[in-house]
Amino acid sequence: MPCDDWLHCRCYTRRTILGLALVPLLAGPARAAEEDEAAKPPAPDDRFVFLTGPKKGQVVRAEDLALGGPQVQAYPMAPDGTVRSDNRLNLVILARFDPAALTDETRARAADGVVAYSAICTHQGCPVNMWSKERDGFVCSCHASIFDPRNAAEVIGGPAPRPLAALGLKLKDGVVTVASAFSGRVGATQG
Ligand code: FES
Repeated sequence: MPCDDWLHCRCYTRRTILGLALVPLLAGPARAAEEDEAAKPPAPDDRFVFLTGPKKGQVVRAEDLALGGPQVQAYPMAPDGTVRSDNRLNLVILARFDPAALTDETRARAADGVVAYSAICTHQGCPVNMWSKERDGFVCSCHASIFDPRNAAEVIGGPAPRPLAALGLKLKDGVVTVASAFSGRVGATQG
């Protein structure tokens, strides 16, 4: 017979109640692990998904990137499909160039001319989300620091004190994929 007061109903054994009590305890660590994954920095075999634009949320392929710039903004996505967007320091910019135009250091990290850098400016942490045709480089939207994408994101203008951290890449069936972790510290020196 159905029971209206399940806590005091004898049809629920002590084991049933104990099991119900454990559900949130067991679900908690699983949820925390999932959240952790979404905040972890990019790791080998991660792919990328577009942050904005007509392909927002879709996996980035090399052919999606215009040869010669500008960059696109993307978040890494773990092999299990978790997008690592819980930490803004994980935001990345991707661009594609003629491999012959890259410096040796940059070509070694690139995948068929595709390069990846942290999108977080090393000056005060704004997004590096603009492109300069005149300077042929990435531009920070706050104080106009300019970074050379063909040469390890070296600073070629503005107040940024150091280059953007770089990611090593590989292509898997045309999909842009992480090969190695950030080359250095991500984000601003101060502020
Ligand atoms: S935060 Fe990028 S130039 Fe100041």
